[in-house]
Amino acid sequence: MKQVKDEGIQVGSRYDQAPQLTKERCEEAMAFILGQVDRNLETFADTFPSEASTGNIYKQIGNTEWTPAFWTGMLWLAYETTGEEKYRQAAEKQLGSYRQRVEERCYTDTHDLGFLYTLSCVSAYKLTGNEEAKQLALEAADLLYNRYLEKAGIIQAWGNLSDPKQQGRMIIDCLMNLPLLFWASEVSGDRKYYDAAASHVQKSAEYLIREDATSFHTFYMDTETGRPKYGSTAQGYSDDSCWSRGQAWGIYGFPLSYRYTEDTELIGLTKKVANYFLSRLPEDYVAYWDLIFTDGPEERDSSAAAIAVCGLLETSAHLPLTDPLKRKYENAALLILKSLIKNYMTREIPSSNGILLHAVYSKPGNNGVDECCIWGDYYMYEALVRVTRDWKPYW
Ligand code: GLY
Repeated sequence: MKQVKDEGIQVGSRYDQAPQLTKERCEEAMAFILGQVDRNLETFADTFPSEASTGNIYKQIGNTEWTPAFWTGMLWLAYETTGEEKYRQAAEKQLGSYRQRVEERCYTDTHDLGFLYTLSCVSAYKLTGNEEAKQLALEAADLLYNRYLEKAGIIQAWGNLSDPKQQGRMIIDCLMNLPLLFWASEVSGDRKYYDAAASHVQKSAEYLIREDATSFHTFYMDTETGRPKYGSTAQGYSDDSCWSRGQAWGIYGFPLSYRYTEDTELIGLTKKVANYFLSRLPEDYVAYWDLIFTDGPEERDSSAAAIAVCGLLETSAHLPLTDPLKRKYENAALLILKSLIKNYMTREIPSSNGILLHAVYSKPGNNGVDECCIWGDYYMYEALVRVTRDWKPYW
């Protein structure tokens, strides 16, 4: 793996102490989330929340986009934590639309199949042994595998594989799609999915992470020669800035691959990526939408914060007790989570059907700026489940 600088945590003793965050406070936040899930249960029975809210209210969309499974995943978290059949029934009822999507190839020209089928179908299979869900997830893994470009050693993110604008483009978010491939190898016994995912994670480490431990959002590879071309952004401030959610996808995505590959270099890399992120958090620990900003009037991205909490907890779990960062990452995760619970939930906005305020989907695209984003809601829920329970990831 290439040399990447570790600047350490640059903010002195900021993460040396755990905050006062009781289990009761976390359970109370989860009770609020469950209330919002209940409130949305009928509205989003056959439809799904839009990617981002408008005025903090999600609209109904079909099973399109990259985001429906964040809602289905929340239903599975609700089922898992309460044991109430209504959540399981609601999640199982949605399987039909995931079947239709994969069978009819509706909006399947995307690497986001990993997000989609991990949280809807792998979760269903892991929690209930649902065979149909297992088959659907395997079919989705096949479609995802078909996006693997052998010479470049990567999975193409978006669009038709022959689209010249998208050809050979990988993005940091894809790290979260790899668990579907690793899982598919485990359950099918076919090693090809594992090999593709293992190659993609290596190429991500090599090219999406810069030498100063920041990340490109996207990077182009030459699909004929396999040579690296150049990095660029889609949702960050600039090509050479560090998009906060991209960095958070790295903090969570690399250790998830480590779960399957046990390549310790991935954990070493995650530490550098996490240290850079933690060194740039503002006073309330919730990142601005791009890490180029560390104070001032720009919007926060609470969804990046929630993803980072899950990633820091995942990373910490893989560190030995003797590593001082183990405790610091736990402390950092709790500090961020406490801030999200206190100041970023929709409690004071009764009209909202969302959970986490102040996320940014795409500032350059002027889409979902300072809104709820459905993945932010999901990761907030997952973060709370992680800190209150011994949780086995769907990833
Ligand atoms: N994966 C798309 C995003 O993070 O906006």
